[in-house]
Amino acid sequence: MKVYMSADSSSQAIGTREIAEALTASAAQRALELTLVRTGSRGLYWLEPMLEVERDGRREAFGPLTPADVPGVLDALAAGHAHPRALGPVEALPEEQGQQRVNFRRCGVVAPGDWRDYLATGGMLGLRRALELGADGVVAAVTASGLRGRGGAGFPTGVKWRTTRAAAADTKFIVCNADEGDSGTFADRMLMEGDPLSLIEGMVIAGYAVGAAQGFIYLRSEYPLAREVLERAIETAYANGLLGADALGSGARFDVHLRLGAGAYICGEETSLLESLEGKRGTVRYKPPLPAMEGLFGKPTVVNNVITLATVPAILTDGAEAYAALGHGRSRGTLTLQLCGNVRRPGLYELPFGVTLGHVVQTLGGGSASGRPVRAVQVGGPLGAYFPVELFDTPLDYEAFAARGGMLGHGGVVVFDDTVDMLEQARFAMEFCALESCGKCTPCRIGSTRGAELIERMRGGARAQQLTLLEDLCEVMEQGSLCALGGLTPVPVRSAFKHFPEDFQPAAVAAAG
Ligand SMILES: Cc1cc2nc3c(=O)[nH]c(=O)nc-3n(C[C@H](O)[C@H](O)[C@H](O)COP(=O)(O)O)c2cc1C
Ligand code: SF4
Repeated sequence: MKVYMSADSSSQAIGTREIAEALTASAAQRALELTLVRTGSRGLYWLEPMLEVERDGRREAFGPLTPADVPGVLDALAAGHAHPRALGPVEALPEEQGQQRVNFRRCGVVAPGDWRDYLATGGMLGLRRALELGADGVVAAVTASGLRGRGGAGFPTGVKWRTTRAAAADTKFIVCNADEGDSGTFADRMLMEGDPLSLIEGMVIAGYAVGAAQGFIYLRSEYPLAREVLERAIETAYANGLLGADALGSGARFDVHLRLGAGAYICGEETSLLESLEGKRGTVRYKPPLPAMEGLFGKPTVVNNVITLATVPAILTDGAEAYAALGHGRSRGTLTLQLCGNVRRPGLYELPFGVTLGHVVQTLGGGSASGRPVRAVQVGGPLGAYFPVELFDTPLDYEAFAARGGMLGHGGVVVFDDTVDMLEQARFAMEFCALESCGKCTPCRIGSTRGAELIERMRGGARAQQLTLLEDLCEVMEQGSLCALGGLTPVPVRSAFKHFPEDFQPAAVAAAG
């Protein structure tokens, strides 16, 4: 019998290792021949630990399981009986939710980094197509697909690649930003642990398109499993000619190096990341020059997020038009939403842009895990806005979110029920900025500390003067900060205050002035 189980970090944290042990022991007791394939995750974390059993070329899922369930599942399978934990064909589960898997098409399906699995599921078709199109054709296709960077800012990837391609230089670099520092996000880790070869293929295509011979993956050190999987995948890529002297017959050399960060949130900001890659302390650089013109070691450098790069092979395989046909407004393709916090069905949902926030939280997520009413949702990481239920009709689209004072960022959605203290959330935003500030500019370095103190003093009733001061401080941080850490920290603070004023200003106290 052939069975599949996720071995990614999140699934292991929920208990897949224990299920795998129980499965091996139960199979041995029954003298059952068992092939257990460890895959990445399908992102259906509320159903983990989940077991997939291959029968008649299809996989049927069982979950969520405890080790005690395992003998019963094997008995039911042997007898052809139903089991209360049976979930049916696993492919149908994400489809039922309207998911469209472009980035995560292989996650949970293949053994991560297995070359044969990769080829059997369309791996390398993107690079082959790239070589047919030629470098200019690749840049044109990426531009036509409408792909925008998934690291946070949503900058058009084709424009970035065109800039680096046009830059005259003897050396250029591709840098993959795998620092994934946003709270509530795990898409990069899931992709690297579940389908690392697609990232490597994306980097090779990027190198071919802009004329770079070297790529660096800057990975946060808190991801030891992703490191292990990537190291193996890089070896596999060299062994099979995807990397090295003649990357799949392109005639050009491409090498990938893995580098580990040391846990600073600011090292996810692209210029700090480049400083850190150069072996210096991670502080933000002034722009211009843009990294696309003068980046790593002063050379033209494409810095892209993991998901951005890993999307490129799929875009070239399916065609730019197919990708551009998905989505909403100027947000094309799919968004990999990471739904977590106080929610019944946490997980990774890959959806075309355009579905509403309410659909994601209430319909897909099933509301709060506590069963209490949902009160607030923070979208886009620690610098993202808090949305109240009244704004749940906002479509997931970069422009629609910006129009309501928010941002999609890296696609993290963190849910809070009605016990959340929004003053505390606002204070925490300032404290986070104070802790993670690189210290280069005063509004961020000092402003955030003063902001946290000021909000703390508002506990129990804010005075009108304090609220004016907070608004002033937010404006100074927004206008006077060099990068988005200081510049966007006012976003969660202001949104908490705007949408949940009752947590800041008990009427009786505020009236005192
Ligand atoms: C404070 C801060 C932290 C950031 N952290 C990350 C990160 O962890 N991962 C990421 O891909 N981008 C991060 N970014 C965005 C990067 O600066 C950059 O825009 C991105 O890597 C570009 O890739 P993309 O165009 O593919 O999105 C961060 C930006 C800021 C201001
Ligand atoms: S805003 Fe903060 S993190 Fe950004 S450069 Fe200034 S001090 Fe550094």
